[in-house]
Amino acid sequence: MTELLDLAVVVPTFNERGNVATLVARLDQALSGIHWEVIFVDDDSPDGTADEARSLGRVDTRVRVVHRIGRRGLSSACIEGMCATAAPVVAVIDGDMQHDERLLPAMLAQLQADSTLDVVVGSRFCEGGCTGEWDPDRVAKSALATRLSGYILKTGLTDPMSGFFMIRTAVARTLSPRLSGIGFKILLDLMTAAPMPMRFVELPYVFRVRTEGESKLDHVVAMEYLIALYDRRFGRFVPVRFAMFSAIGAIGVGMHMGVLSLLYLAMGVSFLAATIVATLAAMTGNFFLNNALTYRDRRLKGFRQLADGWVSFCVVCAVGAVANVGVAAFLHDVHNDAWALSALAGVLVGAVWNYALSSRFVWGR
Ligand code: GDD
Ligand code: MN
Repeated sequence: MTELLDLAVVVPTFNERGNVATLVARLDQALSGIHWEVIFVDDDSPDGTADEARSLGRVDTRVRVVHRIGRRGLSSACIEGMCATAAPVVAVIDGDMQHDERLLPAMLAQLQADSTLDVVVGSRFCEGGCTGEWDPDRVAKSALATRLSGYILKTGLTDPMSGFFMIRTAVARTLSPRLSGIGFKILLDLMTAAPMPMRFVELPYVFRVRTEGESKLDHVVAMEYLIALYDRRFGRFVPVRFAMFSAIGAIGVGMHMGVLSLLYLAMGVSFLAATIVATLAAMTGNFFLNNALTYRDRRLKGFRQLADGWVSFCVVCAVGAVANVGVAAFLHDVHNDAWALSALAGVLVGAVWNYALSSRFVWGR
């Protein structure tokens, strides 16, 4: 009699060569009596993680590999892994043994016992769980991120940042088109993508210390997390890119005033010349900041691209400035007393203009 596949374990990996074989051995031990497969989703790790997993897969067909080339990202790797199995239930677990694989059978039992349940989450923060031997700095950062997500999104989870959970594959598949796939927070993404609140149970576990390889959670990941939170909450009203573009624009105003006062007040340069230099400095600063942050996913690189981009950005901004002045002057003519509102309206029109045109003509593809 053929046995039915019960469970797929998705393991996102980047430079985890030294952990692959140990993890498979531990899964084998933890999941005895369950018909399972493990899917390593590797982003072409330079250390040869995928090769290592494939060589295990030749002797043990429960070990599968999705080898992604030219892409990076924990969340998107998990999504692809979850969509790559025939098993009715899928778990996501880190490849560095920090999550406790011995919890998997209990997670599966919960889902099998209660058909109304969508997801079982391994939690470090519910009764009985803990973050193990984390340094106080990391505990504080993690607590802050958790609290922040609590303010912005209502999931009811004690550990929404957990990268360790088990879900019905059909639910994950249905939700996958709605997921942003950005950054590290795949569970948060799934929970908030669902049109109906998901039914979940949390099981405690102790986060282990990594012994092999190193963490990939860095400042970029932290920033992506904040962007993703913003996007889920306010993205419908003010797109995240426009918010960043405007914030950088405000920094540009500060730069403009700084350079202007330095040249005009401190160095006695003529007002016209000082204004021209200040404008160029602010536009150049804004161009590079937007290139690094707002449009980091389509960043212009190399002298040629940067020079072309800078020129088009200056042209767009110059026209935006004319639009700004025109609108403000017109409104001021009509409502003589409302000078501040006229100026603000001018700034807003200029900002929308600059944003719309630069996203199309400077960073457009
Ligand atoms: N495919 C792929 N692509 N895998 C990745 C990538 C990537 O770009 N970045 C990291 N991974 C893999 C790692 O190889 C590891 O197996 C797993 O994702 C977790 O990465 P770590 O770098 O070990 O993360 P961590 O231990 O610092 O963070 C853990 O705790 C966070 C909450 O504090 C993870 O469980 C996170 O999911 C969790 O949000
Ligand atoms: Mn880790």
